[in-house]
Order: sequence, then C-alpha cells, then structure tokens
Amino acid sequence: MPEKHRCARIKVLGTSGRVRDDRLVTNKRPLTNQTTNNNRITDLMKNTFQNKVVIITGATSGIGATVAHELATLRAKVVVAGRRQQEGEAVVASIVAAGGTAAFVKTDTTNEAEVKAMVDFAVKTYGGLHFAFNNAGVEGTPGLTVDQQTVENYRQTMDINVLGVLLSMKHELPAILASGGGAIVNTSSVVGQIGMAGMALYVASKHAVEGLTKTAALEFAKQGVRVNAVAPGAIQTPMVNRFVGESTENNPQRDWLASQHPVGRVGTSEEVSQAVIALLGNSFITGATLTVDGGWTAQ
Ligand SMILES: NC(=O)c1ccc[n+]([C@@H]2O[C@H](COP(=O)([O-])OP(=O)(O)OC[C@H]3O[C@@H](n4cnc5c(N)ncnc54)[C@H](OP(=O)(O)O)[C@@H]3O)[C@@H](O)[C@H]2O)c1
Repeated sequence: MPEKHRCARIKVLGTSGRVRDDRLVTNKRPLTNQTTNNNRITDLMKNTFQNKVVIITGATSGIGATVAHELATLRAKVVVAGRRQQEGEAVVASIVAAGGTAAFVKTDTTNEAEVKAMVDFAVKTYGGLHFAFNNAGVEGTPGLTVDQQTVENYRQTMDINVLGVLLSMKHELPAILASGGGAIVNTSSVVGQIGMAGMALYVASKHAVEGLTKTAALEFAKQGVRVNAVAPGAIQTPMVNRFVGESTENNPQRDWLASQHPVGRVGTSEEVSQAVIALLGNSFITGATLTVDGGWTAQ
C-alpha cells in the first residue's frame, strides 16, 4: 500500500449499532504495516466491549472458555456460566490473573429458575447486560440411526441445546433492552445446516437453534438487539475428544473428521472466538449464521 496520510470520518457505534459519536479523525501515521492495522482493530473492539457486560453459557470449557478469555481481554465484564463449579471458577481465576473482570455463576441452562438467576446475577454484579453468547451444548449419544433413537437422548439433547438457548434468550433479552440494546450470539454447528448420519438429534437441535436465532432477530431488530448464530465445523475441544477419542495418532475417526474440512484439519476455539466477537460487535448483522468450518458446508 503506498504511504499516505489518511483522514477518515469514523462512527463509533454503541452496542445496539446506534451511532453514539461521529468524529473527524486525522491519522498522521502512515498505514504501512499489518501490526498497525491490527492494533487499530483491537482498539475499535475495545471501544465496543469495554465495560460492557456479557454472559457466556457453557464457559467452563472449550469454545465458551476461550470466548470468555478473549472478551475479557477486550475489557468486557464477563459472567462465566455452566454446571461445573470448579472448572468455572478456574476460568474466572485465569481471567482475573490476566487482569480481566469475570465472575462465575453455577447454571444449568435447562432450569428456568437458574437461568433467571444467572441474568439477575449479571445485572446485580455488573449493573446491566449488553451481550450474551449462548453456547452451552451437548453432543447427545452419537452413533444411533433414527430407528435406534431414544426418548432419553431426545430429551437430553433437545433440552440442553434448544430449551437452554430459548430460556437464555427469554431472560437475557429484557435485561439487554433495559441496558439500552446489544447483541446475542447462539452456538449452532455445521450440522445446523446439513445432516450427519448417526447424529439425528444433535442435527435437529442445531437446526432449531438457527430457527430460534432468526426469529429472535426479527422480533428484536427494531428494539436494538441483534441476534446471530455461529456454526463451527469440528473444533478441537473436549466435545471432539468425546466424539472421536483423545488419541491423535492412528485414530481413523479423528482423521475422517479432519478430512471433512477442505482445509484438511479441525479448527481451534480461537478461530470460533474471532467469529463470535465479530458477530457481537458488527452493528448491521442480524439473523445470520456465520459458518466457521474450514469450507465443510461449501462442498
Ligand atoms: N467442538 C466442536 O466440534 C463443535 C462443533 C460445532 C458446534 N459445537 C458447539 O459448541 C458449543 C461448545 O462446545 P465445546 O466444543 O466447547 O465443548 P465442551 O468443552 O464440552 O463445552 C460444552 C459446554 O457446555 C456446557 N453445558 C453443557 N450442558 C449444560 C447445561 N445444561 N447448562 C449449562 N451449561 C452446559 C458445559 O459446561 P458444564 O458441563 O460445566 O455445564 C461446557 O462448558 C456446544 O454448543 C457445541 O454443540 C462444538
């Protein structure tokens, strides 16, 4: 890029996407390197998330724990939610040790009273609620064809993956509205868009998450709350280890899973986190699902 000074009119957006400030910014430094650009993007993200309150369900491990860390780095106040107390407190301790702000609230997202208490906790502890990442989910019992499915598998998978997201949004939305607007991201999956043999109920549950997401987006668009979904491919987390086993050597199931992605590998929770943060922060995206799948669903 040729060296030149730039003068740009930028708009600093509130969490709901309403324009809060419109300043003429004269940039005296040449835009010559990637580091400068990256720093500027980080600064803009900090403007978006600084002192904002975010709830993350399923933050005791995997993708949710990574998003909790990264939003805390952007100076958000993070409510870490999940059922496992020790793991949740460990996530909070490592965020606090790194200079961030976070608190754990033990929550089973299938229990409405606990979900309401989670939202009340966020509002009482940090003074409001601006963002939520509804990420708690389970894979159910993989390997059953439709004719082998059980009511128990249906109830567990649909309760956590669908009812949990519904209850979370039900109680988060009024708190976000009362705080002046904001955004929600729900965790879907590539199988929210395509089928997968042996995973009927997980597939159905993630299709339902996308339906809930689009509908909530329509219902709250005019009120300043955006609602989107992220749809990861296979991501290296405890869930994938449960699915294909821990071993990375001579593991045909793991190799098969990696081979589904045109990029030739599974993804990382950091790669999903970048997409979640982009969806939370972008003021004109709502009702969308962003795939983070190494090209899986492009095939
Ligand atoms: N890893 C992948 O390949 C992949 C791909 C696509 C989508 N996803 C989705 O990504 C999300 C996160 O999964 P992950 O891969 O990070 O696996 P993970 O490490 O197993 O995380 C799952 C999280 O969900 C929480 N959770 C489960 N049931 C819950 C309940 N009833 N109430 C509250 N929290 C609950 C767990 O916390 P507690 O056990 O402490 O409650 C845990 O923090 C899930 O929705 C999953 O379906 C994952």
